[in-house]
Amino acid sequence: MISKRIIGVAAASVSLLVLSLGAQTVTADVVPPGSDDEISARLQPFGDLCRAGEDCGQAAAAVASGPLSGEAVYNQFCVACHAAGVSGAPILGEVDAWAPRIAQGTDTLWEHTINGINAMPPKGTCMSCSDEELRGAMDYMISQTQ
Ligand code: HEC
Repeated sequence: MISKRIIGVAAASVSLLVLSLGAQTVTADVVPPGSDDEISARLQPFGDLCRAGEDCGQAAAAVASGPLSGEAVYNQFCVACHAAGVSGAPILGEVDAWAPRIAQGTDTLWEHTINGINAMPPKGTCMSCSDEELRGAMDYMISQTQ
């Protein structure tokens, strides 16, 4: 008698649970958007999506690990001072500010790019830049006034 009643209660609660789960699955906002494939793609562990032997966007990686263009170095490092003229930095593209500097000759500009001058820090703060990248940035800045 008693055990039958317990089973009855248990069965009732199981069916209640099933009912409530059933109710949830039809509620639109608990169902993640997208197809099953999209959902399982989102659930992939980070870094597990690209396996050895697959094309893992190597073209993009190669570009990122190659030397930065002068413009890219400028936009990442030099822009902090040379866009607004911080501490008297000659502003990019401002001919009046650059003409007398360019008149010193590129050897002097290069020397100041590498070693700094007054408030211009050595390597324009890009300590990881190669000479080639810094030269590119300097040439880019010069080219913007010509
Ligand atoms: C923290 C600010 C700052 C950053 C960052 C910076 N500069 Fe400068 N730069 C200056 C200032 C200030 C001057 C002017 C210095 C002076 O003549 O007194 C200057 C001057 C220069 C000059 C002219 C030097 C001369 O002889 O007249 C060059 C070339 C130059 N910067 C290149 C760069 C390059 C390339 C970068 C990025 C890799 C860079 N700068 C980043 C502040 C900065």
